[in-house]
Amino acid sequence: MTVLTINKLTSSVGAEVVGVDSDRLAADDALGAAVLEALEDNGVLVFPGLHLEPQAQVAFCRRLGEIDHSSDGHHPVAGIYPVTLDKSKNASAAYLRATFDWHIDGCTPTSDEPPQKATVLSAKQVAERGGETEFANSYAAYEAFSDDEKQRFDALRVVHSLEASQRRINPDPSPELVAKWRARPTHEHPLVWTHRSGRKSLVLGASADYVVGMDLDEGQALLAELLDRATQPDLVYSHKWSVGDTVIWDNNGVLHRAAPYDPDSPREMLRTTVLGHEPIQ
Ligand code: OGA
Ligand code: MN
Repeated sequence: MTVLTINKLTSSVGAEVVGVDSDRLAADDALGAAVLEALEDNGVLVFPGLHLEPQAQVAFCRRLGEIDHSSDGHHPVAGIYPVTLDKSKNASAAYLRATFDWHIDGCTPTSDEPPQKATVLSAKQVAERGGETEFANSYAAYEAFSDDEKQRFDALRVVHSLEASQRRINPDPSPELVAKWRARPTHEHPLVWTHRSGRKSLVLGASADYVVGMDLDEGQALLAELLDRATQPDLVYSHKWSVGDTVIWDNNGVLHRAAPYDPDSPREMLRTTVLGHEPIQ
């Protein structure tokens, strides 16, 4: 059995994996299952200074599940997507400003795919200032509710849209842009996601637009309050990147965002996502 040596980074989310180098990632067949188990337990795994080559990152991600190829074409290696605000490296960079708000990847898919199970980022270039990635445990956020709150919130449903997340960073869009956003279908999700494991997590973040059947302002105020409670600093792990770090997070139980950085910064993360098979229900 493969045993990973991990050190918890905070009491609620994140752990550092030590003693794994990129050769072992490539050679150790049992590592995939061990990483998935540690990810379920910790939400975020940090591999410091791994300096994983893009092909090796994709090969490693294959041990975790099926690779998401829906964003291919922005990088020569299939399965790699560059996360950067530099338009010369990624033509759709403008959309990525939405990563500055708390979110869960894959809440507004093009059809009905479940959120990606895991997202992997490796730091190719880092920002001189800012640009940390912050993570909050959305299982712990649910667990912190009182029994009354659990009962009340278990029943709520929330509509998510690309428009909601884009409007936060672009409040005065052209009609053409709005039409483009609206071409993506909206999705109604329960506020509380009950997983096959029996665990429950909150489905919140930038894509959450309104609460079904609730007064618009009241519902949006509730969503803002719950997000605020879920992302209190003492519940957050903030990863300060060094070139060569690789970080994996579990979209089933983690909210994340990028801390602000200079839009002209060369910061570039190479991203691979692993498809999920758990519908939000
Ligand atoms: C992402 C994302 C955050 C970051 O790639 O899904 O949210 O810090 N990235 O770049
Ligand atoms: Mn993201």
